[in-house]
Amino acid sequence: MMSAIVNKQIEPLRSEQISFLNRINEPNNDQSKIITRKKSRQLKIEYYVVPVVVFIVTLIVIVIICIRQPNSSSKIITIKDVNDNEQYKETNPEMRKKQDFIRKMTQDAWNAYVKYGWTHDTIRPLTNQSLDQTFGPGMGLTIVSSMSTLWMMNLKEEFQMGRDWIENELNFNKLHREIDVQDAVNFYIGGLLSCYALTGSVDEMFVNKSRHIADRLDPVYRSPTGLPYWKIRPADGLASYSTPFLSAVGGQHLEYEYLYRITGNGTYRDRIQRIRSFLELMPKQSGLYMHQINVESGRWHSSTTTLSMVGRSFYNYLLRSFIQSNGEDFSAWNMFVDAIDAIEQTKMFINSSDTGLLYIRPYNLNLRYKRYPKYMNFESCSLGAMFALAANQLSNSSTLSSTSSLHLNDLTLKEKYWNLSLQLTRTCTEHANQTLSGFAPNRFYFDTDEFDDVNLNDSGRHVLL
Ligand SMILES: *[C@@H]1O[C@H](CO)[C@@H](O)[C@H](O)[C@H]1NC(C)=O
Ligand SMILES: *[C@@H]1O[C@H](CO)[C@@H](O)[C@H](O)[C@H]1NC(C)=O
Ligand SMILES: *[C@@H]1O[C@H](CO)[C@@H](O)[C@H](O)[C@H]1NC(C)=O
Ligand SMILES: *[C@@H]1O[C@H](CO)[C@@H](O)[C@H](O)[C@H]1NC(C)=O
Ligand SMILES: *[C@@H]1O[C@H](CO)[C@@H](O)[C@H](O)[C@H]1NC(C)=O
Ligand SMILES: *[C@@H]1O[C@H](CO)[C@@H](O)[C@H](O)[C@H]1NC(C)=O
Ligand SMILES: *[C@@H]1O[C@H](CO)[C@@H](O)[C@H](O)[C@H]1NC(C)=O
Ligand SMILES: *[C@@H]1O[C@H](CO)[C@@H](O)[C@H](O)[C@H]1NC(C)=O
Repeated sequence: MMSAIVNKQIEPLRSEQISFLNRINEPNNDQSKIITRKKSRQLKIEYYVVPVVVFIVTLIVIVIICIRQPNSSSKIITIKDVNDNEQYKETNPEMRKKQDFIRKMTQDAWNAYVKYGWTHDTIRPLTNQSLDQTFGPGMGLTIVSSMSTLWMMNLKEEFQMGRDWIENELNFNKLHREIDVQDAVNFYIGGLLSCYALTGSVDEMFVNKSRHIADRLDPVYRSPTGLPYWKIRPADGLASYSTPFLSAVGGQHLEYEYLYRITGNGTYRDRIQRIRSFLELMPKQSGLYMHQINVESGRWHSSTTTLSMVGRSFYNYLLRSFIQSNGEDFSAWNMFVDAIDAIEQTKMFINSSDTGLLYIRPYNLNLRYKRYPKYMNFESCSLGAMFALAANQLSNSSTLSSTSSLHLNDLTLKEKYWNLSLQLTRTCTEHANQTLSGFAPNRFYFDTDEFDDVNLNDSGRHVLL
C-alpha cells in the first residue's frame, strides 16, 4: 500500500537526488546562500526600508523557484491521470484482455466480500463465512486494505462504496479488541494515506481518519524508551506487550513521515524519530540488529537476527525512508548499508552446496549455525526486489568523489546489491519452476543431508497467497 506512494515518488527522486549531489559538489552555492540571508537580516535591521525587504523576498522566491525548476518541468503521471485519461490506457489488445480478466477477478472477490463478509476482517472462500481474527467485526479490514487496489484498477463504484463506509462508520473508539499496532499503522493509516495520495491529495476525509487512528494509538509510544508497545486496545488506550519484533518497531516510519508532511503535526515525526535514534544508538554485537526488543528496558530481547517476516520490514523501511526523503535521510541509508554489511559478514547469505543457489538463513549469536535449519521462506523472495531498489539508489559512475562517504557512488556496493537481487530471485524462480502449478512452495530446503532440526514433512508443501 505505502509502496504505491513510494513508487509514485521515485520519479521526482532522481532529479532531486541529482540536484542534491550537485549541491554537495558546489560548496560555493551553499555559502553564498547563507551570506545572502545574513545580509538581508542586517539590511532589515539597519534601514527598515520596506522596498528593499520586498526586493529581497522577491529575489529569494525567484531563487527558490529556479532551484526547483528541474522538478516541476518533469511532470509526474499519477494513477489518477492514468485512470482518467484515454491517452494512458493500454492499447495492446492482448494485454487489455488480461487486464480486464484480472479486474473481473478482483470485482468478483469484492462482491463476495460485500455479500458475505461486509465489514468483517475476511471471508472463508469455501464456506462463505466471515472470519475475524485480527481487528474484528465492524472494523472493515478488507475494505480499507482493498481501497488502493480498487482505485488502481479503476473500479470506481466499488471504491466509492468503500469510501462512504470509511467516512461514516470507521471508528477506532469502538474497537475493544487488543490489536497489533503495526497492523493498524500499515493496513489502516497506510491504506488511508495511499487513497489520499492516489486520488490526487484532495480528499481530506482520508487524512482525518488517519489522524483519528494515529491519535488512538498514542499510548503505545509512551514507553520509557519511546519504542512502541506491541499491542493496544484502542477503545480504552491500554497498551501492552513490551517485546515487539524488530519489523513492528521499525516498520512504521513511512506512514508517520507522510502523515507529518500533510498535517504538519510534529507528534507524528517525533514518534518515528525517537524510534530511529534509539535503534541507531543501541549497542550491537557485530553490527547486528536482533529480531526482538524490550521497549521498557531498551535491550534486545533475543539473540537472533533474521530477514524473515519478523525482521524484514525494518530493513525495507530504512531503504524506503531514504527514497521517501528524496535522498536526504542519510541516517536511514547508512543504517541500511551497515546492517546489510553485518548480515553479509556473519554469512547469513549462503550458497547452497547442493544447488549453488543463494539463500538467507537466520543467525543466532549463541547457537551460531550449529543447529539452524537450512531453509528460506517464500515470503523472503521479496528481498530480491528490495536489493534491486537499493542498487537503483546508487549512482552509475564513481566520479562524484565528494559523496563517497555516503556510499552513493560506490560501484562495488551497487554490484553487490544487484548480485544479491539476481541470485535471490533466481532461487525463487527456480523453485517455482519445479512445481506442477508454477507456484513456489512456502518454504525451500537446502543442503538436506546436513539437516538436524527440521521435520521435512512440515509446512513446506503449500504456499500462502
Ligand atoms: C458461496 O457463494 C458462492 C457465490 O455466491 C456460491 O456459488 C457458493 O455456493 C456459496 N457456497 C456455500 C457453501 O454456500
Ligand atoms: C477534516 O477535519 C477538519 C478539522 O477537524 C474539518 O474542518 C474538515 O471538515 C474535515 N474534513 C472532512 C472531509 O471530514
Ligand atoms: C497532534 O497529534 C497528537 C497525537 O496524535 C495529538 O494528540 C494532537 O492533538 C495533535 N495536535 C494537533 C495540533 O492536531
Ligand atoms: C554465491 O555464488 C555466486 C556465484 O555464483 C558468487 O558471486 C557469490 O559471491 C556467492 N555468494 C556467497 C555468499 O558465497
Ligand atoms: C544507471 O544505469 C541504468 C541502466 O543503464 C539506468 O536505467 C539508470 O537510470 C542509471 N541510474 C542513474 C542513477 O543514473
Ligand atoms: C557479482 O557477481 C559476479 C558474477 O557472479 C561476480 O563476478 C562479481 O564479483 C560479483 N560482485 C560483487 C561485488 O559481489
Ligand atoms: C523451467 O524448467 C525447464 C525444464 O525443466 C526449462 O526448460 C526452463 O527454461 C525453466 N524456466 C525457467 C524460467 O527457469
Ligand atoms: C514424512 O512422511 C512420510 C510418509 O507420510 C514418512 O514415511 C516419513 O518418515 C516422514 N519423514 C519425516 C522426516 O518425518
